Amino acid sequence: MDRIRIVGGKPLHGIIPISGAKNATLPLMIASLLTDQTLILDNVPRLADVINLQRILGNHGVDVMLSGKRPGDSEYQGQTMHISAARIVDTTAPYELVSKMRASFWVIAPLVARMGEAKVSLPGGCAIGTRPVDLLIMALERLGVEIEIDAGYVIARAPKGLRGGEIKFPKVTVSGTHTALMAAVLANGKTQIENAACEPEVTDVADCLNKMGAKITGAGTPTITIEGVSKLSGARHSVLPDRIETGTYAMAVAMTGGDVTLSGARPELLQAGLDVLTQTGVEISATNAGIRVRRNGSGISPVDVSTAPFPAFPTDLQAQLMALMTRAKGTSRITETIFENRFMHVQELARFGARIQLDGETAIVEGVNKLKGAPVMATDLRASVSLVIAALAAEGESMINRVYHLDRGFERLEDKLVACGAQVERISS
Ligand code: EPZ
Repeated sequence: MDRIRIVGGKPLHGIIPISGAKNATLPLMIASLLTDQTLILDNVPRLADVINLQRILGNHGVDVMLSGKRPGDSEYQGQTMHISAARIVDTTAPYELVSKMRASFWVIAPLVARMGEAKVSLPGGCAIGTRPVDLLIMALERLGVEIEIDAGYVIARAPKGLRGGEIKFPKVTVSGTHTALMAAVLANGKTQIENAACEPEVTDVADCLNKMGAKITGAGTPTITIEGVSKLSGARHSVLPDRIETGTYAMAVAMTGGDVTLSGARPELLQAGLDVLTQTGVEISATNAGIRVRRNGSGISPVDVSTAPFPAFPTDLQAQLMALMTRAKGTSRITETIFENRFMHVQELARFGARIQLDGETAIVEGVNKLKGAPVMATDLRASVSLVIAALAAEGESMINRVYHLDRGFERLEDKLVACGAQVERISS
């Protein structure tokens, strides 16, 4: 199992290229199941989750071809992925595959929309919460899908095809919105989704579906309307830049001090995160290359933040902000409102000497002058990168174990940090 060794204390200077968004790439790949023609995706990041999803799609008979420069080549711009679901040979997504990459459960929507049936393993929970799929099932039933749950599998049938309908989500759900969209585009008639997720990744998928011939309006707002069509065609679409990767590296620069340009980043995708960083005393400026992040000398000011659906402060940046606040000049309060168990990083941050108290869904972080390097354990994707951020500023050496969590969502993390002066190396074992 690979580990990452970091010697802290080095400010970051230079340029970090931002990769395509993991949380857009996954649903975009799944959308390929909706057509028998080829979907071409540009700016696809090289991530473990993308490789896992390729395997799952292959199980359904989907052909995936990758091209593009290798990481480290000059002008590396991600991969170009040609995905062709000309013939779907199997409408079952087995437990051993779905349990590895929970978003693969979303294949249920295009499979039942195109094939009239799907048998998909329930994904099960994960480190940050139980992650139920009841709202995804509700959305499909509203579109006329008959659902049965048997032996850990969701069996979906729509022998007469899907029909448009009204879907009102009681709470904002990204997965629910993706599922509703990818079923409604081939339904017979009009669908209206109320209280839809407004995350940029949902808008990116809707833009791609419209290029494929779908008729979606209102994506990015709480009310989305879809006129069903009988068939979708192939298209070419470039994955939008990863706002969570952008926010993560911005927090790393805030933590170490320095001056870095996040190239390809788009400020409007994470305005709330950038506003919070500005409150901490970091200088943020938009340039034509992307976003420039500077902190020179001034201390880190404490902030009080609650996570919430877009456009509010994203839950996927909560752990990273907490790492930054461990060295603020004062006490911060960070409240997690989306997932019920997303404080797994607290115990590990404490190993660096951080002072964090938990009070229900709020973490009270008392800033300390210094963190000391330590061996720590990554538990989930975003928690693991919060440990990297802490280690970059900790005195001495840190060893981060179980870095496969990092590889799920951060492309070439150590290369990008080393290029800006960090002392980071991967130790393969
Ligand atoms: C997506 O997860 C992201 N994953 C998550 O990123 C992100 O944290 C989350 O949205 C919130 O923004 C991908 O896009 C692949 P939800 P998702 O459905 O869709 C509850 C990362 O680190 N809920 O918006 O699963 C759910 O339990 C990952 O990249 C139900 O109760 O999140 C949660 O409390 C982590 N029933 C809340 O809604 C349902 O049927 C929001 O979940 C579905 C969800």
